[in-house]
Amino acid sequence: MAKSEHPAVWYEHLHTEKYTGARRGRIHTPHGTFETPMFMPVGTQGAVKGVGTRELKDIGAQFILSNTYHLWVRPGDELIAQAGGLHKYMGWDQAILTDSGGFQVFSLADARKLKEEGVTFQNHVNGDKMFLSPEVAMRIQNNLGSDVMMQLDEAIPYFETYEYIKESMQRSLRWAERAQVAHKNPDTQALFGIVQGAGFKALRTESANGLVGMDLPGYAVGGLSVGESKKEMNRVLDFTMPLLPEDKPRYLMGVAAPDSLIDGVIRGVDMFDSVLPTRIGRKGTLMTRFGRVVIKNSKYKNDFTPLDPDLSYYSPNPIRREQFGNLAQYDLPNYNPFQNLTRSYLHHLFNANELLGAQLASEHNLRFLLQFMEDMRTAIENDELLAFRETVMEEYGYNKP
Ligand code: GUN
Repeated sequence: MAKSEHPAVWYEHLHTEKYTGARRGRIHTPHGTFETPMFMPVGTQGAVKGVGTRELKDIGAQFILSNTYHLWVRPGDELIAQAGGLHKYMGWDQAILTDSGGFQVFSLADARKLKEEGVTFQNHVNGDKMFLSPEVAMRIQNNLGSDVMMQLDEAIPYFETYEYIKESMQRSLRWAERAQVAHKNPDTQALFGIVQGAGFKALRTESANGLVGMDLPGYAVGGLSVGESKKEMNRVLDFTMPLLPEDKPRYLMGVAAPDSLIDGVIRGVDMFDSVLPTRIGRKGTLMTRFGRVVIKNSKYKNDFTPLDPDLSYYSPNPIRREQFGNLAQYDLPNYNPFQNLTRSYLHHLFNANELLGAQLASEHNLRFLLQFMEDMRTAIENDELLAFRETVMEEYGYNKP
């Protein structure tokens, strides 16, 4: 298809898994084409904490995510525009998605006042009073030049009253319409809408129908993974995902636990993000095929085995492992920085407060998740996603009483 027939960002469908709703596809962007389902490392302030852009490429990162709110507060979107946009500023030539700032204003800022027009607040850096509206969020993201921009929405607690969630969801829907009107660069940047409505089917339906009626280039499901159970999240995805168009990317915001990633993919999610891998990594928790490893634990002091034996030498997925064996034959993350690192060494780095410990653990966790997604993509292609899920549930320790 000719490029002009597509918006800036578009979804190419390759395969639907035979036994689930899982989709294997690609997302085309002005900064390249990327394989889905995907996990996006989070670089809140224009930097994935502890992991540079060279390392991100080495471990096979595709899209990365950054934040409107943080970059607006510091160093400012105008400065980044002067530098030539966020890609240039941070030295990343692949795709960037920016969140709109709503979620961060609601979690970080003080003295918030919410009105139809937008939200006033004091920023968390110097306490300056600021005003964020759908139009301001678009202006900032247009200045940043991200490939995917999120609409401004209101982040609310999951367990609010029906009335409040309805009012908030409808306001977020009106904010999406205002964002679409304010969008200056639809040829090079894609605006995604965010479905809200907490656990109420009627509200999620109204939200999704409203957004789909706007014919946006992609859709996210928001307001999940905020304290509700995993069962509850799956229940919401069960009735929300079928409301979204099949020919557009679908993004579940703020999710990174391996079981939730599989459960989202099974229900048709293409994109995920979360700070989890880097947040727990820099505090010394490693994600491995056999569950989490708290590396400061004294039992690792004399443990000269690799950080994650499977990740060090093999794919964590048995299907993939049989297929590809040694990681050296792997084409995507074609080099393995962790091969020679032992648990003992990382234990030492954390004990000695060496920066390198936090860096290596963050990179390792991202690498684990990126490879996990790669393995999931293979499992979808082979129509073996349910078997993959069973293996992960067992090995990662989710089935333990
Ligand atoms: N990140 C995680 N959840 C959300 C959400 O509901 N809205 C936005 N804007 N960002 C998120």
